Amino acid sequence: MKPLLGTFYLLGMLVPGWLGYDRSLTQQRQEVVDKVVSPWRILETYSYNRYHPMGEIYQWMSEIREKYTEVVTQHFLGMTYESRPMYYLKISQPSSNPKKIIWMDCGIHAREWIAPAFCQWFVKEILQNYEDNSRIRRLLKNLDFYVLPVFNIDGYIYTWTTDRLWRKSRSSHNNGTCFGTDLNRNFDASWCSIGASHNCESLTFCGTGPMSEPETKAVSSFIESKKENIACFLTMHSYGQLILVPYGYTKNKSNNHEELIQVGQKAANALKAKHGTNYRVGSSADILYATSGSSRDWARDIGIRFSYTFELRDNGTYGFVLPETQIQATCEETMEAVLSVLDDVYEKYWYTNSARKAKSTALVLSLLMSFMSLL
Ligand SMILES: *[C@@H]1O[C@H](CO)[C@@H](O)[C@H](O)[C@H]1NC(C)=O
Ligand SMILES: *[C@@H]1O[C@H](CO)[C@@H](O)[C@H](O)[C@H]1NC(C)=O
Ligand SMILES: *[C@@H]1O[C@H](CO)[C@@H](O)[C@H](O)[C@H]1NC(C)=O
Ligand SMILES: [Zn+2]
Repeated sequence: MKPLLGTFYLLGMLVPGWLGYDRSLTQQRQEVVDKVVSPWRILETYSYNRYHPMGEIYQWMSEIREKYTEVVTQHFLGMTYESRPMYYLKISQPSSNPKKIIWMDCGIHAREWIAPAFCQWFVKEILQNYEDNSRIRRLLKNLDFYVLPVFNIDGYIYTWTTDRLWRKSRSSHNNGTCFGTDLNRNFDASWCSIGASHNCESLTFCGTGPMSEPETKAVSSFIESKKENIACFLTMHSYGQLILVPYGYTKNKSNNHEELIQVGQKAANALKAKHGTNYRVGSSADILYATSGSSRDWARDIGIRFSYTFELRDNGTYGFVLPETQIQATCEETMEAVLSVLDDVYEKYWYTNSARKAKSTALVLSLLMSFMSLL
């Protein structure tokens, strides 16, 4: 009996101790939950000069949506191959004006980390400045921005966990013997005719058919459903310092080729004026290489007037592994280029001669009013 009683006694000592331990664990868990729930936990200290893993980008998106509820909404696009949700952020000011859409996606190629960093930078810049910066305010009057910060989420995560230089998605092929489709060879634009491979081991594997991948299916069916209203399609990559216009699958030119080049060249000039970085402008087939199945060519072929691929910094020194110390300058100059494109798109759709007159009248009036308010 004695040893048994002793055992009960010991248990009696241990259980409260164990409960106490459990309580502190619960407390710790609660603190973690509180941190997640408390608004803008990430946003307050979010560094736009760093690369972020996918979990932080998901969190960033939801906190952006919560902080800027009056202009931002978050929308589901579809699921990735590995069943992760794809969301885009819509930045839109309530208005009765007929609006056009600007589409921007980043990170269709997993290893091009500067691209998602730019999408986040772009969103931050628009949201921090749209009230006070007249240029951005004007754009938002008639344009809605749809931003997909990471297109290839599975691949992006894989570059953080396993292989920094992974490019493709993570879909499984040939009975699980090789992985990944090049999502930017998977669009339905002269699919797999040139500059792409049917071999799933290849870096430019085009998939098993046009839009065979869940990611490209999700984006393309969404874009297709809105195409009448999409004025501009921007897809951000690295590296090479290029602004590319259609086409990659042919040397033929699109019917507004001159306009695309002109707007692109002006953007490259604006970019260079910021930090002196040189960009070249041209069609992919002319100045880079032949590619079929790209989203840029597909977007132009379904009738979107302005369609560009940006190849951000650098020019080969660090390549895909651009140091974090260059994020800020890269984003600043790219912002100048994108705003230049958007100004041009805006003017081509909205800024007619009569609008210009109306605008200068309004300007004179508001100047008069501001003088009067000084009195
Ligand atoms: C795929 O792999 C499994 C397991 O190794 C095997 O049983 C099956 O026969 C393979 N299928 C094909 C089509 O090769
Ligand atoms: C390029 O243009 C030529 C002449 O109009 C046409 O015959 C050809 O099919 C076009 N090629 C492609 C790939 O669209
Ligand atoms: C990139 O580097 C190459 C090789 O040094 C050079 O020829 C080219 O002009 C550079 N391009 C730009 C846009 O600076
Ligand atoms: Zn790329």
